[in-house]
Amino acid sequence: MDVAPFEQLLKQAMGLDAASIGSAVVQRAVQERLAACQLPDAQAYWERLGTSAPELQELIEAVVVPETWFFRDPASFAALARLVGEDGRLLQGQTDLRLLSVPCSTGEEPYSLAMALLDAGFPQSALRIDAVDISNRALARAQRAVYGRNSFRGSDLAFRDRYFVATASGHSPVDEVRRPVRFRHGNLLDGLMAEAELYDVIFCRNVLIYFDRATQDRAIAVLKRLLKPRGWLFVGPSETALLSDHGFISAKLPLAFAFRKGPAAGSETKPRAAPSLFVPVRKPPAVAAAPLPPARPRLVPTPAAPAEAPTGIDRARRLADQGHLADAAAHCEAHLRQHGPSAEVFHLLGLVRDASGNAEDAAEQYRKALYLEPDHHEALIHLALLLRKRGDEAGAQRLQRRASRLYQGGGA
Ligand SMILES: C[S@@+](CC[C@H](N)C(=O)[O-])C[C@H]1O[C@@H](n2cnc3c(N)ncnc32)[C@H](O)[C@@H]1O
Repeated sequence: MDVAPFEQLLKQAMGLDAASIGSAVVQRAVQERLAACQLPDAQAYWERLGTSAPELQELIEAVVVPETWFFRDPASFAALARLVGEDGRLLQGQTDLRLLSVPCSTGEEPYSLAMALLDAGFPQSALRIDAVDISNRALARAQRAVYGRNSFRGSDLAFRDRYFVATASGHSPVDEVRRPVRFRHGNLLDGLMAEAELYDVIFCRNVLIYFDRATQDRAIAVLKRLLKPRGWLFVGPSETALLSDHGFISAKLPLAFAFRKGPAAGSETKPRAAPSLFVPVRKPPAVAAAPLPPARPRLVPTPAAPAEAPTGIDRARRLADQGHLADAAAHCEAHLRQHGPSAEVFHLLGLVRDASGNAEDAAEQYRKALYLEPDHHEALIHLALLLRKRGDEAGAQRLQRRASRLYQGGGA
């Protein structure tokens, strides 16, 4: 079967660069769909796609990667909570905070935003989170909001006890978390452009990696239009390099992947400097005077100010979040000496080396993580990005396919 026309159609319809998931995945999706439609061959299915928008949606459903979980990249949520905490007007609910989660997949990301902001003391009544995805199937699961083990990863799951109720089929977020979130179907590359109101914060994570460069540029232009002049954009770990080319300014928090819309919004020029807006020097008096609500225990797994001093890997992660890269690396190394090899620590050390500009060593650390844990999704993605930067496109695609295969058909 010549799969190229189908790949081209998917690119037009949803931006997918077939190389990111592999042609074999697209081919399998086409074969599954033509069998489901009881059509004799690819030509007949191609004709069906030309006349049936619902069938095109079915093909999209067959190729999307809905992989997600609660508090994925927890430093992003910690950074968001801190950002909101620095703005007295927002914290006291004098103004609504508008957030967009696109793509939201099965809902873990927008619900995590709600939990992080509730924990930061933000009043639920002033919180509005639009959650958009191209997959109707993912959105149906998001609205059903019943989550199994795969949605709860990592060791800090205290938020589940506070914000979820256990049901026979999984855990469901409480109304306080669900109420601010509005789900809707949309395509990052077209439908969202009609959006009239702008957002204070946009989370657009782990979708740009499935687009080619031209499509990434289009998507970032959409996001830029949707973001308020000094709004914040959070992307996935492998997507940060793109944004500085579009005039966004990094928050310089290595594991938060947060960017502010630069003053020259609309221009494509690079900013001259990248100040860290998270340096706690400009705290408005209103916030300094207003204590956070006492009842709520901390939620975000990597908080800015813990009650107890963190140890080991948590301490290393915290130091990295704060930009203390050399200290973070030293903690990782000490952890490895003391406790032996660990995929999690090698991966973190890779991120730290990457953020320090030491690509060679970063790649080595990611490889060690993958040696110990061949299915370490994030190490696969990060190593793929490094290889691509070095011009090893074939190697990058091989790793990206491995990463995609982990979740193809598995869902979130
Ligand atoms: C890997 S998930 C990312 C979910 C979440 N943002 C996260 O980081 O955990 C990718 C999602 O992108 C969605 N998607 C792919 N192309 C899209 C597009 N053009 N517009 C909107 N959503 C899209 C897919 O349906 C899928 O749910």
